[in-house]
Amino acid sequence: MQFENSLVFAKQLDEKNPLKDFRNAFIIPSVNGKEQIYFLGNSLGLQPKKTKDEINKILEQWASYGVEGFFMGSDPWLDYHDRLRKPLSEIVGALPHEITVMNQLTVNLHLMMVSFYELKGKRNKILCEAKAFPSDQYMFETHLRHYGLNSDEILIEVKPGEGENKIYTEDILAAIEKNQDELALVLFSGINYYNGQVFDIKTITEAAHDAGIKAGFDLAHAAGNIPLQLHDWDVDFACWCSYKYLNSGPGAIAGVFIHERFHYDKNINRFAGWWGYDKTTRFKMEKGFKPIPTAEGWQLSTPSLLLYASHKAALDVFEEAGWNNILEKQKLLTDYLWFMLDDVNQSLAEKLIEFITPRKAEERGCQVSLLMLQKGREVFDALSKAGVMVDWREPNVIRLAPVPLYNQFEEVWQFANILRQILKAEK
Ligand SMILES: Cc1ncc(COP(=O)(O)O)c(C=O)c1O
Repeated sequence: MQFENSLVFAKQLDEKNPLKDFRNAFIIPSVNGKEQIYFLGNSLGLQPKKTKDEINKILEQWASYGVEGFFMGSDPWLDYHDRLRKPLSEIVGALPHEITVMNQLTVNLHLMMVSFYELKGKRNKILCEAKAFPSDQYMFETHLRHYGLNSDEILIEVKPGEGENKIYTEDILAAIEKNQDELALVLFSGINYYNGQVFDIKTITEAAHDAGIKAGFDLAHAAGNIPLQLHDWDVDFACWCSYKYLNSGPGAIAGVFIHERFHYDKNINRFAGWWGYDKTTRFKMEKGFKPIPTAEGWQLSTPSLLLYASHKAALDVFEEAGWNNILEKQKLLTDYLWFMLDDVNQSLAEKLIEFITPRKAEERGCQVSLLMLQKGREVFDALSKAGVMVDWREPNVIRLAPVPLYNQFEEVWQFANILRQILKAEK
């Protein structure tokens, strides 16, 4: 499509888009009576209007039935989980029984390490990206220490190309090949949190499997953002949080994918709890752990129904909007953002912004990370003052992510023009 830098054009894109009314399904924060331009869906997605109602339904059921709420009422809590797995299976490209919703992301990464990091002879290394999200790094460090291992010796980090921000797939594949006799696991993110680079999950998984190594992914920035086909790509496991693109609220309950080939594997290690026990006999309270033969077999504890409810409210919006429509708008909205940012860059006498997110469409999702070459913090502060919510990462990066469910083309246009004015004023 031939884009234009004009408010009329941006408004036309909004008007024509099949998702134009979905902004109304969300509460948009305001400052001084004016709606913010909220481009922080990569950090905490906005609240769907129906979240309160879904949470209230749980409170009412609790009030009416007490513990019997698990079995009674219009939505017995015991089966509530199924209502989450179905929409999630479409979003991450899995079979519903390959998904479970439990705990939070870092907890789940530890749990998956228990199952998928197998120490076999000299095979004890883990391949990951350099500068993975800090929680993943702390997870590795402390998990490995628990086995008496030193993360500095175990982790093989793949770095960006010389003088670049992007990690090349070829370098990941070469690292797998080079270290295959020592690798026990490949654990990458789906999208790097800092520069928004999308990794080629399918190719990485294939290469790991060809070398007899398992491959898992942290999809915090990928779930609900980009197309995923976890089952078809043969990924072994994946974990994600639900408070970013999945709009399920701060500290929302997280998701896990475990490929079905592991569901009946009696030899796989896991940390178990009664909520992962065979559903038909769970309440017999017998000795000896018998896992549910689905990803639910990895559950440990009684889930928070309040967190389930806010997750359901958000996933209902995804179902109503249609995942393919969301992906189509994501592409158009992000393309428009890049077009407008190029337009800003070209209108400046000198270069003030460098993109550290890859430009190729298949290597980026909603997020764009801007390396600010001068006065980055001042620019960020001025954007906040103008009601544009983006985020700041040390030492000089502004990250922003317009999302298709509630952001508009008009907001992208406005943001770019506010940024242009600020950059000219800061000179
Ligand atoms: C890539 C990545 N991994 C892990 C985490 C930590 O998630 P949690 O706090 O839900 O455990 C985050 C949080 O933003 C993240 O972006």
